[in-house]
Amino acid sequence: MNQDDLKRAVAVAAIEYVPADCIVGVGTGSTANFFIDELAKIRHKIRGAVASSEASAKRLKGHGIEVFALNDAGDLPVYVDGADEITRHMHMVKGGGGALTREKIVAAASRKFICVCDESKLVDVLGRFPLPVEVIPMARSSVARQLVALGGQPALREGFTTDNGNLILDVRGLQIMNPVELESTLDHIAGVVTNGLFARRPADVLLLGTVSGVKTMTAQ
Ligand code: A5P
Repeated sequence: MNQDDLKRAVAVAAIEYVPADCIVGVGTGSTANFFIDELAKIRHKIRGAVASSEASAKRLKGHGIEVFALNDAGDLPVYVDGADEITRHMHMVKGGGGALTREKIVAAASRKFICVCDESKLVDVLGRFPLPVEVIPMARSSVARQLVALGGQPALREGFTTDNGNLILDVRGLQIMNPVELESTLDHIAGVVTNGLFARRPADVLLLGTVSGVKTMTAQ
């Protein structure tokens, strides 16, 4: 079994969490892409989807799934997305694909967050994966200086603009012992749009792809 097989397995398992006749929140990334492909197989049973990125919207539409604006869809029953890292407390680092802001918005508007990952993403402590921080372009340098003051080493994601027209700083070296507190601290830096810590609103269920099958986990 390779990593793609594990991602496909969790995508298949996530379909069980999609209620009939609903609008489903859809994440971004390679695992979310497998979920979109599975969703296509039941498209006649759902009303449509809200996408967390232009890339996911394009893939959904390509499968003939109607894409709704979040403003028109209201609250969603479920949001399905991957993560770059996740702990047993269901705290995550996200944004490796740069879609963190829309992901956090759609997740916040959803009653249940189903995280779909292969087993390489489960960690004891967050922080090995560089933490993405979306910043307003004019604040790039001042935000970077404040991230350094917090002990981080920010690097501009070269040649990348988010769907919202902003930049990403990828931050290494942060001690993420208290993800809930750090998420708030980073959000309070002027010029930060969103940071990639998803801890104040953790996942509700983790579907973890392992060589011995899909494990279903909830916060410990
Ligand atoms: C996108 O911005 C990210 O948050 C993704 O959800 C995350 O990077 C996981 O992506 P993969 O499923 O491709 O690993």
